[in-house]
Amino acid sequence: MSDTAILEINGEKHEFPLITGTENEVAMDIKTLRSVTKGVTTLDPGYKNTGSCESAITFLDGEKGILRYRGYSIEELAEKADFLEVSYLLIFGELPNSEQLEKFHTDIKDQSIVDDDVKKILDAFPKTAHPMGVLSSLTSALTAFNPSCVNVDSKEDMYNSVVRILGKFPVLVAWTMRKKQGLPLDYGDKKLGYVENVLKMMFKKPNEDYVQNPILINALDKLLILHADHEQNCSTSTVRIVGSSHAGLFASISAGISALWGPLHGGANQAVLEMLEAIKEDGGDTKKYMAKAKDKNDPFRLMGFGHRVYKNFDPRAKIIKVAADEVLGDLGVDDPILDVAKGLEKEALEDKYFVDRKLYPNVDFYSGIIYRGMGIPTDMFTVMFALGRLPGWIAQWSEMRLKKEPIGRPRQLYIGENERAYKNIKKR
Ligand code: CMC
Repeated sequence: MSDTAILEINGEKHEFPLITGTENEVAMDIKTLRSVTKGVTTLDPGYKNTGSCESAITFLDGEKGILRYRGYSIEELAEKADFLEVSYLLIFGELPNSEQLEKFHTDIKDQSIVDDDVKKILDAFPKTAHPMGVLSSLTSALTAFNPSCVNVDSKEDMYNSVVRILGKFPVLVAWTMRKKQGLPLDYGDKKLGYVENVLKMMFKKPNEDYVQNPILINALDKLLILHADHEQNCSTSTVRIVGSSHAGLFASISAGISALWGPLHGGANQAVLEMLEAIKEDGGDTKKYMAKAKDKNDPFRLMGFGHRVYKNFDPRAKIIKVAADEVLGDLGVDDPILDVAKGLEKEALEDKYFVDRKLYPNVDFYSGIIYRGMGIPTDMFTVMFALGRLPGWIAQWSEMRLKKEPIGRPRQLYIGENERAYKNIKKR
């Protein structure tokens, strides 16, 4: 393949380098486009064709259904690694040895105290507040209690900010849920593993000991790993672009949480469960909902289906579907919603509309069913997604800052009014 692309505008030819990534993906480097063409820009709503950065963190091949973190397949990591190991891998680039992992965990635990005044902020939210709004606000509020800016040229400073947010975030997650349930806000237990600690902080009742259930630990570990990174998705791009203005890590993560909240992104896991419930309540007529999803005059979409990048099975969905069967079986939960989901999936996979558009179940289609089996309230599902995505956001933010990327600032094609004279209000 040639290593340049030629663009001809008004008879003038311009050359642009073609860059090949380590997995042989090719990108046209248009950094000089505006200067050599004297102002021509690209137009790509939704950035469907635009690479915003070079990244060495996650590789995704949407046609083949491949997802790898730092070169390791998602299938292998989900089976053999734990969430903290995967977090270390994403953030620092290599799997940790036992000493590195232990130190990482100890440093995170040492940073797991959240200032008690954060409880006052939490108190001010009505019980009806959506947990994602609360989590985003509390994460942003952490800035007030940790005001020093991260010096990206200091390895120590960078490391400290990483362990600080990994320590405090699960506490905020647990407090967000417990506050809504009227339960006392507690801290974790330093003796426990990262995921065990999350479970205990979320579910411990004030009047009884919390008994760990290995099925829940294993299920949550797997779900968090599967959500840990997904290259330049909407929330990760948000984290990178907010961070590119040199806003701090907590502020950037808080913005990422807001981006994740939407039903077309992480909020889909809540939307899927609500949709499955509605179908069940409506007598389980999946055909009716398939027809609605295909009707262009109906805003209804089959939640948990389709993906911007995967045009084949989402590899995460494959793992989660098997896990859903195992976890519900192990927990002895017989959830009729699972049958609705399987029925809907079968129909969609055989339906011409879905086949033609390559719409397959995505990561969110089955994850909510597992969360529900674990006793997690529906409006907390996207919060769990955020907990899983945290190391990915951190890794992407660090990569962007360490590479000294310029501030993110896209161009536009202006299609508004030309210059006109101001009209006095009485003459309008
Ligand atoms: N139900 C019905 N039709 C759909 C769906 C769906 N879930 N998804 C896409 N389509 C149709 C869409 O109407 C369009 O049809 P046409 O070509 O006739 O106009 C075609 O498929 C392409 O869709 P698009 O909206 O142009 O694709 P996109 O890449 O902009 O959107 C998506 C991707 C994920 C936002 C979309 O598939 C969707 O809304 N899915 C449901 C929400 C969902 O499950 N989101 C979770 C994504 S995975 C978790 C994450 O990483 O956030």
